[in-house]
Amino acid sequence: MARSLRLSPAASPWWRRAVGYEIYLRSFSDSNGDGVGDLPGVRERLDYLSWLGIDTLWLTPFFPSPMHDQGYDVADYRDIDRTYGTLDDFDRLLADAHRLGIRVLVDLIPNHTSIEHRWFRESRSSRDNAYRNYYVWREPEADGGPPNNWVSVFGGPAWTLDDATGEYWLHLFLSEQPDLNWAEPRVAEEFDEILRFWLERGADGFRIDVADALLKHPALPDNPPATGPWRGPPAGIASDWGTLEHLYDVHQPGLLEIHRRWRRLAEPYGALLVGEIGLADPTALTTFVSGQDGLDLCFWFEPMEIEWQPEAIRAALATASTMSHDVAWVQGSHDRPRAATRFGGGELGRARSLALAVLLLGLPGMPFLYQGEELGLEEGVVLPEEAQDPISRRAGEHALGRDGCRTPMPWQPGRGLGFTSAKRAWLPFGGRKDADTVAVQRADPASTLHRYRRLLRVRRELPDAGESRLEWLASPGSIVAYRRGHVLVAANCGEEHETMDLPPGMWILAYDTSGSGGGAAVSPLALQPNTAQILVAA
Ligand code: NOJ
Repeated sequence: MARSLRLSPAASPWWRRAVGYEIYLRSFSDSNGDGVGDLPGVRERLDYLSWLGIDTLWLTPFFPSPMHDQGYDVADYRDIDRTYGTLDDFDRLLADAHRLGIRVLVDLIPNHTSIEHRWFRESRSSRDNAYRNYYVWREPEADGGPPNNWVSVFGGPAWTLDDATGEYWLHLFLSEQPDLNWAEPRVAEEFDEILRFWLERGADGFRIDVADALLKHPALPDNPPATGPWRGPPAGIASDWGTLEHLYDVHQPGLLEIHRRWRRLAEPYGALLVGEIGLADPTALTTFVSGQDGLDLCFWFEPMEIEWQPEAIRAALATASTMSHDVAWVQGSHDRPRAATRFGGGELGRARSLALAVLLLGLPGMPFLYQGEELGLEEGVVLPEEAQDPISRRAGEHALGRDGCRTPMPWQPGRGLGFTSAKRAWLPFGGRKDADTVAVQRADPASTLHRYRRLLRVRRELPDAGESRLEWLASPGSIVAYRRGHVLVAANCGEEHETMDLPPGMWILAYDTSGSGGGAAVSPLALQPNTAQILVAA
């Protein structure tokens, strides 16, 4: 076990200066030639991640699973799916990561299990089974229909009838992902043990899936029709989720108590809890973090949705930055179209995504890159008949699904992209060009990869970063700018060349997305469209 290699909890909260990196395990690096990424594959790439300047990894689920939702349907929380390796592989990965000063977060999935989990098999076997109450079972309505009008995030009703026992089970996602019943105390106890299991092995914390849906209203009332737009489910997914106001199925009172319970458990290990909370309103997010003794951080998804438009970007970042250090900033993930594509594709999309990264990386909170973002990757090409995401497979041609952001990481030009020695991977390679690959970009100091690497280095070296008060600067036109102590960050999010007066004093250019850097900055600061700079007071 890797416990003895644990990095010192005394440095807590270590995440104040950390930069996270999401590894979509299936598509990161395949060590055994079966076309699917695995834990030894990640281990082989640790040097790259360390070179890039990453210090925290979030590994997407590696547990045994029938993979109806690519591992977000867990059949056993205390083991590794053989596709991904073994517990020994996990220990070795952790030990090597820790040696390089890299921490590792495990993806915890407490809202639902797989239908193949032992608890569900038991629960389903009879109405009086000891595990029956681990899940949410209800009698059909008088007409035989489901107990209420709730819908699944992935489309269709949130209930499936079990013919054998004559009751419906609840699932906010696929029917193969039955929701656990967190009103049942034994479920909370089971999860205490699961958290302890990974913390004792040396894990440095958890990314917590759907951390806001665990509890449901005990009376399971119908949800009323939606009154406003809902942006919960990933873009492009045909879903009825947005037709209802989610008053009774998510964000129920008592959630914070569960998060606090986990915090008490994780704190002695110096472990980080980052929750996935599907709230668009940052003020509402603070009920789960900031001074609540609940989660340490929560992801905030707005930057994965915003248009490339200065007012929208300024407003979005400024509101969420009132949450101080509690935000985990992301502009991409395995659930959303890649930022470079959303922002216009090609050079333009890449430049915009990098400029947004500069803005996010200077803010209080912890930024996470999604694998391949550092290469400026666009969506991979996946034809409808090649789709693997259960969402698009089920919803048919109307749903784009999430495969485009999940295609294999391009490590080097040529067959298999250095991702796999197999002819085919679990998803198509996505139409990557040589210039997209790590090898080609690593050899070119002007590449997007080198620009990200320099950005991460500059962030690490910023004076008083992480502690100073944030002040948004009134800037003309399309420049979005803020100051934190000795640091000033500015991005031109418009179409025209812009200038901005610098606050009094001497400023040094520490970072420029266009590649140049160093030397005194002169006021007014001039910024080309889609570029960003970091200045430091001399
Ligand atoms: C959020 C995960 O990121 C997503 O991939 C998954 O499908 C759902 N939660 C359900 O677990």
